[in-house]
Amino acid sequence: MEEPLGRAAVRDARPAIRRHNLVVVGFDEIVANKYLPCISNVVEAGYIDSYSVIDLESERSTIEERLQAVDLQPREIVYLPDSGTTTEQTQPKLIGTAVRQLRLPDMPMKVYIATEVQAHEAYLRYCVQSGIDSLVEKPVLAPLVDGRFTPSRISEVMQELIAQAARTGAEHSVMTLSRYHRIYNGEVIRSLEERARNWQAPVTSLHLRAAGGVWNLQHEYESRDDHPYRYGYGMMMHGAYHYVDLAVQCLSLNKLVFPDRRFRLEVSSFGAFPIDQHLRIPNPIASRFEDGHPRWPDAESLAHPFGETDITATFRLVDVASERTLTVGTLSFEQTTPSIRSWQDLPDDVYNKNGRTSSIDLEAQLSTLYSTHVHCYDVPRGQNADRIGAFARLTTRANASLGGPPSPDPPALGGAPCLCNIRRRPFTPSTPTR
Ligand SMILES: NC(=O)c1ccc[n+]([C@@H]2O[C@H](COP(=O)([O-])OP(=O)(O)OC[C@H]3O[C@@H](n4cnc5c(N)ncnc54)[C@H](O)[C@@H]3O)[C@@H](O)[C@H]2O)c1
Repeated sequence: MEEPLGRAAVRDARPAIRRHNLVVVGFDEIVANKYLPCISNVVEAGYIDSYSVIDLESERSTIEERLQAVDLQPREIVYLPDSGTTTEQTQPKLIGTAVRQLRLPDMPMKVYIATEVQAHEAYLRYCVQSGIDSLVEKPVLAPLVDGRFTPSRISEVMQELIAQAARTGAEHSVMTLSRYHRIYNGEVIRSLEERARNWQAPVTSLHLRAAGGVWNLQHEYESRDDHPYRYGYGMMMHGAYHYVDLAVQCLSLNKLVFPDRRFRLEVSSFGAFPIDQHLRIPNPIASRFEDGHPRWPDAESLAHPFGETDITATFRLVDVASERTLTVGTLSFEQTTPSIRSWQDLPDDVYNKNGRTSSIDLEAQLSTLYSTHVHCYDVPRGQNADRIGAFARLTTRANASLGGPPSPDPPALGGAPCLCNIRRRPFTPSTPTR
């Protein structure tokens, strides 16, 4: 029997939903508290049939406890042996067996990878090779060689994975919730972009400072499994990459002015490490946390390859053809900065375990014409370390003769009086960003 034309047309217009089976690798408190409601929504909407979990055998009791507190239960859980008991050869096999066990007949799979960063690569590689859609947490990967972080391998491994991924139709994405930031993107970059385009003014100066306010005790550098330092990665892999990304977005505006020129970024940097901490935290204060003695007192310990706590750099952007300098600036990512930590033991049920209190300062300048300076900072609210408000203060300075917002046809500068116009714009509290 034929359907009336109208009904058939309505049915055809609906997007076809292909139901998937979701595998969550790494079920920490963020997944349980923040992302499970999103998963429930897509189950209800028919995009996802159900979800399963892969985590570590050593974490079984923590995971079971975490699951008791959530409404949507996993269809199945697979616990794998810890990396200490597996090798680079056995790990892919274990991952393959676990993923195959969780497959549902005739249903494509999606995998969300949220293990501690060093385990991302093995799961991502499996998904890429097997043509399974994946979403991996940032930072994408931290290649280890003989158990130590080897940043020089990041590009090589990424290129290899990208080439392999191109051979299958699967999609691979990276979770970067902070990629679009209301202040940095909506205000700072937007205002620079408009002026760089209209005035053909390059970014000639960029100063970015991110103070993390994270305070670890010395023994925690050796013992922590989440945000570990003992594998050789630290501040940069624990969050500073967001600010490298922000700096790159600002510097890339120069393409608007010089679309055909190639530029080289030269960087020179210094770092401070856990072994330096005893010198940097006042003894009476550290002693309150039973952390008043240097944990690595001898010269040999200077060779201990912990990840960095603080890193500062100065850079220049050089025109490759002419060797002329276009942009100069500084980048500094430091966590040994004011923190709200006032407790000795790391609390279990708090995300902000180390009392992180961030303060980000960014000033970007377009030649002699314009500068935008933003300060985004946390303000603690009461006793709960997880309740932190975020504020932003934006100051712009512009050549007064250009006056007001940029027009498509800016006034010529020749002979203009060199007055400065300083505008301040306070911001009311924005949503907390952590
Ligand atoms: N470090 C940061 O600044 C930051 C910020 C935001 C997001 N992230 C991402 O959030 C995620 C969690 O980070 P974290 O440092 O809190 O991790 P974590 O050490 O708490 O591990 C997360 C979960 O993964 C499990 N897990 C660890 N190794 C595993 C393995 N080989 N196989 C299966 N499960 C495993 C753990 O048992 C835990 O339940 C990571 O993907 C990380 O990249 C990190």
